[in-house]
Amino acid sequence: MIRNSSMWRLLLLIIAIAGIAAFAFAAQVEKDTYMAGFHQANGVSCVDCHEKNFVMDDSETVVNKKCVECHGSMSDMAKVTAKDELNPHKSHLGEINCSTCHKGHEQSKAYCNNCHTFKMDIKFDSDKKAEFADSADVVVVGAGGAGYVAAISAADAGAKVILLDRMPITGGNSSLAAGGINAAETSVQKKQGIKDDKEAMVEETIKGGRYLNDVQLVKTMVYNSAAAIDWLISIGADMSDIVRSGGVDYDRTHRPVGGGAVGTHLISVYKANAIKKGIDVRVNSDVVKIIKNDKGAVVGVQVKGKHSGLYTIKAKAVVVAAGGFAASDELVAKYKPQFKNTPSSNQPGATGGGIKILEDAGAEMIDMGFIQIHPTMGGDTKVLISETVRGSGAILVNQEGKRFVNELTTRDKATAAILKQTGAKAYLIFGEEVRKANKQVNGYIHLNLVESASNLKDLAKKIDVPADVMADTVAKYNSYYTKKADPEFSRQDMPRPIKEAQYYAIMVKPGRHHTMGGARINTNSQVINLTADVIPGLFAAGEVTGGVQGGNRLGGNAITDTVVFGRIAGANAASYAASVK
Ligand code: FUM
Repeated sequence: MIRNSSMWRLLLLIIAIAGIAAFAFAAQVEKDTYMAGFHQANGVSCVDCHEKNFVMDDSETVVNKKCVECHGSMSDMAKVTAKDELNPHKSHLGEINCSTCHKGHEQSKAYCNNCHTFKMDIKFDSDKKAEFADSADVVVVGAGGAGYVAAISAADAGAKVILLDRMPITGGNSSLAAGGINAAETSVQKKQGIKDDKEAMVEETIKGGRYLNDVQLVKTMVYNSAAAIDWLISIGADMSDIVRSGGVDYDRTHRPVGGGAVGTHLISVYKANAIKKGIDVRVNSDVVKIIKNDKGAVVGVQVKGKHSGLYTIKAKAVVVAAGGFAASDELVAKYKPQFKNTPSSNQPGATGGGIKILEDAGAEMIDMGFIQIHPTMGGDTKVLISETVRGSGAILVNQEGKRFVNELTTRDKATAAILKQTGAKAYLIFGEEVRKANKQVNGYIHLNLVESASNLKDLAKKIDVPADVMADTVAKYNSYYTKKADPEFSRQDMPRPIKEAQYYAIMVKPGRHHTMGGARINTNSQVINLTADVIPGLFAAGEVTGGVQGGNRLGGNAITDTVVFGRIAGANAASYAASVK
């Protein structure tokens, strides 16, 4: 017991020292750049301002107590600055807090200049160039799938890499990816005797994208997809299960054994590799600006750290892999107003931060109005019910108990069909055969998204669908399965019947899922500007880019995009960085 309590005390001491050291480091980083660093350099420590264990109080009456204690009131300060041409301490409107203008951890800015343009010399103001406080060969913005892959690939090529994510956890949308990764003519397909054809994958991707894709980017993605699977396996991923996604004629969606969700698996593999390779991964770190030199080449980024404040990282190359904007009501309203009120399947950070910094850096934005609605989100939740549930045998029925669409058509068509049904919703119906092939169904059951019964009649009752109609629908589907032909909806792939109890139903509605638009890149993942030139040192990969997926993305092609272009961006950023003096 005594031993335990002294161990606890030791642990607490270590945590306290680490906390103070982290703050000291952060302040050191800001030295000579922002007010906090300046104070620290002049003997004012963090605790002198940050009372209450570093928690700042936003109450209007206490927020500047500490400033006033040292510097005096506004009228005291007005005397100090009386000789200045403009004396804002005197001319301010009413009693305002010091931190309205003077910021501790970011650049100070005279508040009145939000509307006016007074020429005022305010220390640490926004016109002053920040010193570079930190450095790396390659900075990767966004620690989702594409970002992790780019960071690992850049590190493998010998670069010192810093990987930044604005969210408190890494993984991005990739960590929610339920389906799998599409790849053609892979070693895994060959081992399992599955035939595929790269050219078919190119054609299907372009057809699915409504012939609006950048063909060279599609070819780059497809031709490198088999190597992407081998690379994933080489870093520890399990890609041994193969299923079919919508809009294709081949089984090419690779995922972990038993139909486990691909995203969580890959992100845990990436994290382990990032640690092994010594990549500096920082969370709560919002990149607010890509910094360029006077020749237009990228030289770093400005980061707003939740705890460390605003600072800069000098970098020879920057890869932006910060995802799309399907979680941003504001951007969706701007680019596709009719989808404004549609729920989103995305993680909360998918609000287009990467799009903004790329646009500010001069990138050409393309296809911004192409926003994908996924047909099957679970009930009224934000949980995506993977297309692979249909791919492994589930059917869709409407409230009247009838099928109404080829369940494996492209997402835009399946969505349009569901929206025409009663209540703009549908039910995924399947039996035990499909549940056994899809581990992720257990997750949906855990989340209370699934109704189940030991016979179809009871299941129909639970979802208020006419039992005799649903029984007839399922019987017909089972006969199509046996004949391997679906005369009603021409569904090509019917891998399992619906015969084995338990029987399951999941109510589904469409939701915002993927933004196909973003920065224009070339096949080297270099970012292209408005005059069709490469922006030196700037690379991008994944959902933040446009062109790869055209007007509509096929299920399973997002992860392919992140792995293929993440690898290209990381390797090319490292080699570009090595060429910079
Ligand atoms: O339905 C899904 O499993 C989603 C996959 C994807 O967006 O690629």
